[in-house]
Amino acid sequence: MKNKFIKNICCIGAGYVGGPTMSVIAFNCPELRVDVVDINKERIEAWNSEDFSKLPIFEPGLEDIIKKCRGVNLFFSNNVEESISKADIIFISVNTPTKKKGIGAGFASDLKWVESSARQIAKFARNHTVVVEKSTLPVKTAETIKSILNSSEQNEGINKMNIQNNQKSFSIVSNPEFLAEGTAINDLQKPDRVLIGGEDHYSIDLISDIYQNWVDKEKIITTNLWSSELSKLVSNAFLAQRISSINSISAICEATGANINEVAKAIGTDTRIGSKFLQPGPGFGGSCFKKDILNLVYLCKFYGLNEVADYWEQVVDINQWQQNRISSLVIRNLFGTLSNKKLAVYGFSFKANTNDTRESPSINVSINLLQEGAKLSFYDPKVSEKQILSEFENNINEKNVLVNNTALKAAEGADAIIVLTEWEEFNHLDWEDIFKIMRKPAWVFDTRVFLDKQYLKNIGFKVWSLGT
Ligand code: NAD
Ligand code: UGA
Repeated sequence: MKNKFIKNICCIGAGYVGGPTMSVIAFNCPELRVDVVDINKERIEAWNSEDFSKLPIFEPGLEDIIKKCRGVNLFFSNNVEESISKADIIFISVNTPTKKKGIGAGFASDLKWVESSARQIAKFARNHTVVVEKSTLPVKTAETIKSILNSSEQNEGINKMNIQNNQKSFSIVSNPEFLAEGTAINDLQKPDRVLIGGEDHYSIDLISDIYQNWVDKEKIITTNLWSSELSKLVSNAFLAQRISSINSISAICEATGANINEVAKAIGTDTRIGSKFLQPGPGFGGSCFKKDILNLVYLCKFYGLNEVADYWEQVVDINQWQQNRISSLVIRNLFGTLSNKKLAVYGFSFKANTNDTRESPSINVSINLLQEGAKLSFYDPKVSEKQILSEFENNINEKNVLVNNTALKAAEGADAIIVLTEWEEFNHLDWEDIFKIMRKPAWVFDTRVFLDKQYLKNIGFKVWSLGT
């Protein structure tokens, strides 16, 4: 660490970003103390659990780092105020979901958690504090944070905590996170780039110094605040756009006899297009793509750029269309009715190697099938029964949903299996045993196009594979 004055980092929000990001900072900067704080008691207890299988987030490689750093220079607690007061640098990593009501509902980000973090920082910070936007935020949010930090409420905090030194000052830096779930630790250890946007060079250098403990200087990009905030939204919009593009082509493949994997390979070998993010599937899930594009759409409309807004909104529309298209195909192939039929759903997380179910395509597809009268029997290697059931609150008759411990059990008496998450273990199941216990004709719907279609057909399954 070049700057010896920096000793304490605080991160507000111990979620999918705060937890792994701060673990990797603590791991690479042993001379810093990193406090990750959250208002959620259950979550903090889980982070502090002695049983590592109870950590709140499943990420390959995370457990090893927690074992090495927790209690040494990495601490999880609910002591928000105290940690803020000791921190030289504060990362805001709280949730920024889409607003559910009021102006901008359904599009704009709900910044109430960011605002309350900023108010707490304004009250309890001491001396000069660098505040880092780690959450994904609409462009110009730094302006809002700045005005809260510079408000008079600070004094209230000073009195309350009886702090002698009231020379508070703040600077704001944007440092969006680009990690993907399931590969978070690897993404953090070896990022394609680190983006730091700000106004004063001292603060930008401070954050850059932290990353330089393990990231090459050439990979650290510095910009102004607004470019940094906007780049995060645009990065997610471009990634999601590729998925909607390839998914739209999957439908043309089915109509024409082309094969989506062959088309993806043929176009992806052009270095200008590139091979990544061309995997067709049931549409993108996860907590961010949809919310960040809708936020971008909202911003475009706010600035009167309606054509631009419409362009990006189509990416979300195609995503929804793909999920509905898959549900309709399943229904059509099962003779147009799902009444009295049991369907096994393999995979509930929004992608493999994570236990996160936010915006998972499995949710929409399952709701469509339940509305047609199906009984659904779920299996996911990492998602708990409680979590699966919570996604259907108010939507279903609980009797129609069953959660199983094994893939085999889930398929018992089922008419069809719908594979919605690309868990590698699905390629190694005993499909012959599964076939035996299903009602015939037994269907497999492979929405991730990753199972061996011919092998399944040879066993006797009827197989539908997306885009083929
Ligand atoms: P999350 O919901 O998993 O975690 C956020 C945490 O913040 C919660 O535990 C919540 O209790 C806590 N919190 C909210 N307000 C608080 C307050 N005032 N004081 C203390 N704690 C508070 O969310 P996440 O997935 O970690 O995402 C956080 C941000 O990072 C979002 O803006 C998201 O868009 C962005 N992001 C997420 C990912 C991802 O893969 N999940 C990747 C990049 C960026
Ligand atoms: C995504 C981005 O990849 C991260 O860079 C970003 O930081 C993060 O969003 C965020 O801001 O939250 P994540 O959602 O965790 O990360 O996972 P992705 O690997 O991007 O997958 C998102 C969804 O797209 C998943 O449902 C996945 O199955 C789907 N996907 C992805 C495809 O259908 N095809 C692909 O080729 C790639």
